[in-house]
Amino acid sequence: MTRAVCPGSFDPIHNGHVDVIGRAARLFDEVVVAVSTNYAKKYRFGIDERMAFCAQSLAHLPEVTVLPLGAGLLADFCREQGATALIKGLRSGLDFDYEMPMATMNRHLGDVETVFLPTAPQLAHVSSTLIKEVSSLGGDVGPFVPDAVLRRLVP
Ligand code: PNS
Repeated sequence: MTRAVCPGSFDPIHNGHVDVIGRAARLFDEVVVAVSTNYAKKYRFGIDERMAFCAQSLAHLPEVTVLPLGAGLLADFCREQGATALIKGLRSGLDFDYEMPMATMNRHLGDVETVFLPTAPQLAHVSSTLIKEVSSLGGDVGPFVPDAVLRRLVP
């Protein structure tokens, strides 16, 4: 049985995340989506709502479960979960530069490999930050977020 962890803030989850997690679910028997809480970070949505968005948006993937990451090290979480791999989506070289040191550190800390999946090209411009900004200014983000998130962004 192979298990991978896909960590992130998911504030909120968007279709780029859903695409990467769905593809990871074809590579691993189980995928744990780990929703982070960093107390130094200001989130738009609380942990319960971010987790609910993830659960609703990933309900079509039976191999996927959604858990809170908690405040500790991701490498420790992976060990507790029996996961041998981390999944990260890469949109660009900027993502790669940001992710590489963490991949090396996580391998050092927990002997966990990071598997990078290239984002679908039609979603490479999508980020949670842009989704929040565009929707708050009245722009259409419908093509980029799951229905559960869209309903909350555009009440
Ligand atoms: O969606 P994000 O905000 O880019 O996700 C960042 C996340 C959750 C992957 C990162 O903050 C993380 O790994 N947090 C856990 C704490 C930790 O282990 N830090 C050391 C990483 S080498």
